[in-house]
Amino acid sequence: MKRNDVSDVMVKIVSLCKRRGYIFQSSEIYDGLASCWDYGPLGVELKRNIKGLWWRAMTQLRSDIEGLDASIMMHPNVWEASGHLKGFTDLLADCKDCKHRFKVTETQENRTCPDCGGELTEARHFNLMFKTHMGPVEKKGTIIYLRPETAQGIYVNFLNVQAVSRRKLPFGIAQIGKAFRNEITPGNFIFRTREFEQMEMQYFVKKNEAEEWLESWKEERMRWYHTLGIKASALRLHKHTQDELPHYASCAYDIEHKFPFGWQELEGIHNRTDYDLTRHSKHSGKDLSYFETESKERFIPYIIETSAGVDRTLLACLTDAYAEEEDRVVLRLSPQIAPIKVGIFPLVKRDGMPEIAQKIEETLRPHFKVFYDEVSSVGRRYRRQDEIGTPYCVTVDSETLKNNTVTLRERDSMIQIRLRINEVIEKAKKLIGGEI
Ligand code: GAP
Repeated sequence: MKRNDVSDVMVKIVSLCKRRGYIFQSSEIYDGLASCWDYGPLGVELKRNIKGLWWRAMTQLRSDIEGLDASIMMHPNVWEASGHLKGFTDLLADCKDCKHRFKVTETQENRTCPDCGGELTEARHFNLMFKTHMGPVEKKGTIIYLRPETAQGIYVNFLNVQAVSRRKLPFGIAQIGKAFRNEITPGNFIFRTREFEQMEMQYFVKKNEAEEWLESWKEERMRWYHTLGIKASALRLHKHTQDELPHYASCAYDIEHKFPFGWQELEGIHNRTDYDLTRHSKHSGKDLSYFETESKERFIPYIIETSAGVDRTLLACLTDAYAEEEDRVVLRLSPQIAPIKVGIFPLVKRDGMPEIAQKIEETLRPHFKVFYDEVSSVGRRYRRQDEIGTPYCVTVDSETLKNNTVTLRERDSMIQIRLRINEVIEKAKKLIGGEI
């Protein structure tokens, strides 16, 4: 794809998101706040469906994972122990002329401003954590941080969860929640922002089983993206080289997605070794080791982490689903994640058709998110639903009045079948794959 086509597609997707209520710029009436976005009526449904499928895959379909919801603000020593205070930094330099700030690398030779060619200052480390104060007095001892990853809330609760659930290794703890990073170069819509949501799972294992579990989680997580309907050809794994590894990992893979702006990370899968639990044991003075009754051994477990971004997954689903056809724009979202599952229309606004259609709407509503529409031609109503990704539409027409049948139209093929009104629920449940 040429560069212009790329930005064209992103511009069209951003515009569709705003126009149809997927995603709005944050604080728009005040000219917006850079890199912050609000999910509108459709966006919030899509997001909840994605998170729901992740939660189900982790904590319901597997018997070895518990859930957790830890607080965003944590004791400041957590970040000392985790290494984020020291190591979670970007190297930056300022332009002495235009004052713009840039990310640089240790070995970078060209130290001139990419914007104006001016001289750059010495590079310095800039910590990406947002800092604030707890309580009414702003002094050194009251500094706390907004968490840059949800993982630490899991580590500090490792023994709590293990004890109450009476878990033996291997087992996992899953969590979905907000994380914050003062990114230097946010951008590409919701791809890189300063406030975002993560779906993280920490799997506690014996040291000699860590490698095997890393392999197994790599495969399992790739499979999960396929179940979201993302094309296999748009997903790949990338193994970190030694200098790409985060400070806590001995081995890491990224699941990457082919976005319109190129291959980019969707999820990180890391072997975090015994780094985090050892550090928290040392810094808190609390023993976070695990006692294995069979071998009578006490040790610090290794951790295999799967760390996915909710917003990036949502953007991957949207960009993967977006298609332009001759006379329509269509979001080919998987029915499981589509915000609205069924559109229900009377062909015309007379002859009792609206009343029958509204009855069908009432019957379907407890099972699915549905949308009733009687405004403008039925062709336009189909197009409106295609553009937001609604997989099925049910239409009441003159034949309904004669034999109680309706049409069910499928979004991608546009094929319509006829079925009896009392068959609609079962058919829709089967097609959509469960009641979500
Ligand atoms: N606990 C490990 C961890 O946080 P990471 O690779 O830094 O690892 C994991 O982040 C995932 O979180 C990324 O793959 C991405 O999906 C998401 N993510 C990270 N930074 C983000 C940002 N600034 N905006 C949106 N999503 C982000």
